[in-house]
Amino acid sequence: MPSRRLSVVVTRRLPEPVETRMRELFDVRLSESEAPMPREALAEAMREADILVPTLTDVIDAPLLAGAGDRLKLIANYGMGVDHIDVATARQRGILVSNTPGVLTEDTADMAMALILAVARRVPEGMAKMQEGDWPGWAPEALLGMRLRGKRLGILGMGRIGQALARRARAFGLSVHYHNRRRLHEGLEDPLEATYWESLDQMLARIDVLSVNAPHTPATFHLLNARRLKLLKPSAVIVNTSRGEVIDENALTRMLRAGELAGAGLDVYERGRGVNPRLRELPNVLLLPHMGSATREARLEMGERVLVNMQTFADGHRPPDQVVP
Ligand code: DGY
Repeated sequence: MPSRRLSVVVTRRLPEPVETRMRELFDVRLSESEAPMPREALAEAMREADILVPTLTDVIDAPLLAGAGDRLKLIANYGMGVDHIDVATARQRGILVSNTPGVLTEDTADMAMALILAVARRVPEGMAKMQEGDWPGWAPEALLGMRLRGKRLGILGMGRIGQALARRARAFGLSVHYHNRRRLHEGLEDPLEATYWESLDQMLARIDVLSVNAPHTPATFHLLNARRLKLLKPSAVIVNTSRGEVIDENALTRMLRAGELAGAGLDVYERGRGVNPRLRELPNVLLLPHMGSATREARLEMGERVLVNMQTFADGHRPPDQVVP
């Protein structure tokens, strides 16, 4: 089947060059709105399209997949994380799922490092003082933070982004510790001089900074629960640029309020719950609106990966970034 006859529904506006190329290659229906597609419109799109291009704001669960038309054969996600797609059910129904790995690695690692630096050095508190006009002048003991050099960074989830963060962290004099489902092979671990902890609990008790870089899966949901968070030193800071669900956000909020952690930098939150208003009230908490991959370059390259996956599929092959459950 020539690729231009495949019908494609894209749920959000994408970078203009990506939309243009898609239109050249496929019969495309683009969302007119900047907002997420309503569920009913998504259900309709899945009945009619050969390829669906969703983003992380579209929850594609079993009931939606059950209503998908026989034509729907590829869900080419614009993004890396696929926790909003029931990949196992899609597979049972013969629908392939692809994502966009690689192209947002460095930018997301930059953001994790930015959060570590900002929270360790109490940037949110300093900014608030300046914005409120509450600065009586330099003082020897004002806003003292944590020196990163010589401290231990624990990385939970040592995939591409975790490794990219480890490279940055070493330049700041942090030693790298990590917990991952599988230990990295020597070729990857040795250049990072990274210490592998099979026991997450043991790692948590020893580190000064924790970065969450693990995807959200049933196995990682609330992996950082109240018990594990309490293993961290009270002087520790925690950052999350992966998915909110990996941390029990209520437990984290309670600990930050009680001064049992020094600070947190969060770019992601538990789906469907909004940002906990209590987090907003806390001084050394830096909250960002999920912008880890928000560079012009990454968002364009994500679109280019989507196109590669779509074209390969249209040519009768498996998309190179196929996700398997
Ligand atoms: C992704 O692609 O999953 C990222 O979270 C988007 O920033």
